[in-house]
Amino acid sequence: MPGRLWDLELVELVYMVAAFCFVLGLKRLGAVRTARSGNLLASLGMLFAVVATVYLVFGEASLVLLLVGLVLGGAAGVVLARRVPMTAMPELVAFFNGLGGAASMLVALAEIAAYTRAIPAVDAAPTMAEGVGALGGVPFSVAVVVSILIGALTLSGSLVAYGKLSGRLKVDRIGLLGSRPVNGVLFALALGLGAWAGFAAAAGWPLSIAALLLVLASLALGLGLVLPIGGADMPVVISLLNSYSGVAASATGFVLENNLLIVAGALVGASGLILTQVMCRAMNRSLSNVLFAGYGAAAATEADTGYTGVKSTTPEELALLLQGAQSVIIVPGYGLAVAQAQHKVRELAGILEKSGAEVRYAIHPVAGRMPGHMNVLLAEADVPYEQLFELDQINGDFAQADVVVVLGANDVCNPAATRDPKSPIAGMPVLHVWEARTVVVVKRSLAAGYAGIKNPLFEGENTLMLFADAKAALEGAIAELKANA
Ligand code: TAP
Repeated sequence: MPGRLWDLELVELVYMVAAFCFVLGLKRLGAVRTARSGNLLASLGMLFAVVATVYLVFGEASLVLLLVGLVLGGAAGVVLARRVPMTAMPELVAFFNGLGGAASMLVALAEIAAYTRAIPAVDAAPTMAEGVGALGGVPFSVAVVVSILIGALTLSGSLVAYGKLSGRLKVDRIGLLGSRPVNGVLFALALGLGAWAGFAAAAGWPLSIAALLLVLASLALGLGLVLPIGGADMPVVISLLNSYSGVAASATGFVLENNLLIVAGALVGASGLILTQVMCRAMNRSLSNVLFAGYGAAAATEADTGYTGVKSTTPEELALLLQGAQSVIIVPGYGLAVAQAQHKVRELAGILEKSGAEVRYAIHPVAGRMPGHMNVLLAEADVPYEQLFELDQINGDFAQADVVVVLGANDVCNPAATRDPKSPIAGMPVLHVWEARTVVVVKRSLAAGYAGIKNPLFEGENTLMLFADAKAALEGAIAELKANA
C-alpha cells in the first residue's frame, strides 16, 4: 500500500470516478440508442479501477505486472470478441460468470491463508479471541464464507450452463446429483460447513479443512441446481448466475475492504436480478417455475409435427407480395442470427423504402437466445433504431400491415400462447403476426422452435411458408425485386 496520504486519496477519487462510469454506463445500456456508449463508458470505468488498484495501491513496482495483465487480458478479450459468433454469446457470458465466481472464491481462500500468516507465531494455534482481534472478526468471516459459497456455486453452475448451451452437455442428472432431495442435503451441508469455516476463519486457524469442504459442497450444489434446468431456460439461469457472481464479488469487496468492488458487485447483482425478472415476465413464467419445473428440457422433445393445410411459397412470390405492399413488418428471430442474414434484411428494407413502403421491425423481448439479441444483430447491419418496435408498441399495428415477414422466428409469434390454455407457453406475450393481411414465415422446415412445441401459425389461412435458409430466401427476393425494378 502506498504510504502517502494523497496516494490513498487519489485511489478513492479514481474509484469514485469508476463507480460513476459503471452507474452511468448501466443506465445507458438500458436503451438501444445509447447502449454502445454505455458499454464503452463502463469499460473505461473498469480500466480506471484496474489501474488504480494495481498501480496506485501497490506502487510503481507493479507497473510491469499491470502492463502484462492489461496486454494479456485485452488480447484475450479482442480474440474472443472477434471469434465468438453472436449465436454463441450466451455461452461466452456463462463462461465469464463462472470466471467471476472462481475469482471471488480464490480471493477469499487466499485471504484466509494470508490472515493466518499475519497472526503472530504462537506455540499453540491462536485462540478465538486473538483470531477475532487480528481478523476484524465476524463481518470478515461472513464475507469470506459468502464469497466461497456463492463463488464456487456460480463457477460450477455456469460451467453446466455453458455445456448445455453449447450442446456438449445433454444430461439432467449425474448419478443422484441434480435431484431435489440431494440438492436439499447439499444446501444444508454447505450452510453447516459455512458456519464451521466462518468460525475457523474468525479464529485465524490456518486454511481450514472446513473451507476446502465448503468449496466442494458449493461446487456440487451449483452442479445440482443447474443440471435439471432445460436448455430453453438457460438464458434466464445465466442472468441469475450473473447476479450471483455480482453478490460473490461484492462479498469479496468486504473481505478486501475495497469499496469499489463492493459497489461494482452490488451493481452486477442487482442488474442481473432485474434482467432475470424481465425475462421471466416476457416468458410469463415465475422464477421458481424456471428453476424447479424442468419444463424446458421436457418440452424440447415433444415437438408436434402434425401440420395440415400448410401453403408454401418461393422467394420470387415473396418479392411480388412485397412489391405491392405499403406497410411491411419484419419479425426477426433466432434463425436470422443463425443465417447471419441481418445485412440482407437491411438491403431488402432499403429497396422497399425506396419504392415508398413503410418498413418496421417487431422485436420480442426474448427473440433469439439472449436479451437484446435482435437489437444487437440489427444494429450491426445499421438498421435505424427508429424502425425497431417493442412488442407493446407494435402489437396493435399488425392488423393494418400488408405483409409480415417472419424471419427465423417461431415461439415468439406462436398464437397457441393466446388461444390454448394448456400450451406450455400459455400466457406468454407473443407478437400477433397472424392479424396481418399476409404472413410469410421464412424457415427451413416445420421443425419446432426452442420451446419444442407446434406452431398453429404455420397452418393459418393467411400464412405462406417459405422453406429456406433466411439469408438465401432474402437474396432470392432481393434479386427478383432488382430484376423487376
Ligand atoms: P425459436 O422459437 O427458437 O425459433 C427459431 C426458428 O429459427 C426455428 O424454428 C428454426 O426452424 C429457424 N431457423 C434456424 N436456423 C435457420 C436459418 N438458417 N434460416 C431460417 N430459419 C432458421 O426462436 P425465437 O422465435 O426467436 O424464440 C426464442 C426462444 O428462445 C423462445 O422460446 C424464448 O422463450 C427462448 N428464450 C429466449 C431468451 C432470450 S433472452 N432471447 C431467453 C430464454 C428463452 P428451422 O429449423 O425449421 O429452420
